[in-house]
Amino acid sequence: MQPHEISYLLDEAEHWVAVNRQAAKHDDRLAGLTQINAFFENSTRTLLSFEIAGKRLGADVVNMHAAQSSVKKGETLIDTAITLNAMRSDVIVIRHGSSGAVALIADKVDCPVLNAGDGRHEHPTQALLDALTIRRHKGSIAGLTVAICGDVLHSRVARSNILALTALAAEVRVVGPATLIPDAIEAMGAARFTDMDEGISGADVVMMLRLQNERMDGAFVPSPREYHALYGLTYERLKRAKPDALVMHPGPMNRGVEIASNVADDVNRSVIAEQVEMGVAVGGLQHERRPYHRKRGPRRSRQRHPDWQSFCFQGPDCREGS
Ligand code: CP
Repeated sequence: MQPHEISYLLDEAEHWVAVNRQAAKHDDRLAGLTQINAFFENSTRTLLSFEIAGKRLGADVVNMHAAQSSVKKGETLIDTAITLNAMRSDVIVIRHGSSGAVALIADKVDCPVLNAGDGRHEHPTQALLDALTIRRHKGSIAGLTVAICGDVLHSRVARSNILALTALAAEVRVVGPATLIPDAIEAMGAARFTDMDEGISGADVVMMLRLQNERMDGAFVPSPREYHALYGLTYERLKRAKPDALVMHPGPMNRGVEIASNVADDVNRSVIAEQVEMGVAVGGLQHERRPYHRKRGPRRSRQRHPDWQSFCFQGPDCREGS
């Protein structure tokens, strides 16, 4: 995406921040439409953000949790996609543990598909809500130094944030043990640091990532205790960053591992709760002016969406944003 397209989305998201802070939050722009949230992986923030946003806009929102679905009986991903398609939903929001699974499903259904995080690949709405949070505090993103710290290797949040923040002209650093930083990270425009103190030195934003033990096959760090000693964000370590540096974390957190509890809970430094609030605004944004009309009859190519929509959409006609 072009910087002006991301900035446009962030501008539009401000409207949804204001709506969500009103007493009366309802709008009927999605009345009569059906939104299926198909989550094949656990989620609190993303699932609820999309659910709340869809309901506030009047959609009929249905959640499909893989753990209670026929996926557990061995149904394939493609058969599940065909089943959801047959129910004539108007938009499907998908989270899946495999990179590329969202694009695969988008290829099999007739309605728009939103990526709520796929494997290690991307988490576009997280990047938008993070950029929105940073911009609300710092005024603009261009020229800021953002240190993304921890388990970058397994992080779709890191990838989407590197794409969005470098597009907006931030200096992005990735910081962590060599075992948890992908080889080609510099090709994405991020600088690599394996020393935490050095990596967060002078940073405007320190974005901590969860140590994703569930995606680790083997030992990437000696122990949580040693990881905390070398890479955990403590007050002492935070002194290396700018005095007004924001502390961020997409959640869920491993308290006492990648971040000390007192830092995470410091309302003067941590914007972690605000990130969650911005997630609901970004959920509303995603529904705004959506071309939520299904094709009827045999599948055929959808009308091309404007480019800015490709950031979060997956589908045959907007694959470039995946
Ligand atoms: N940040 C994030 O994606 O959180 P959830 O896994 O709770 O949705």
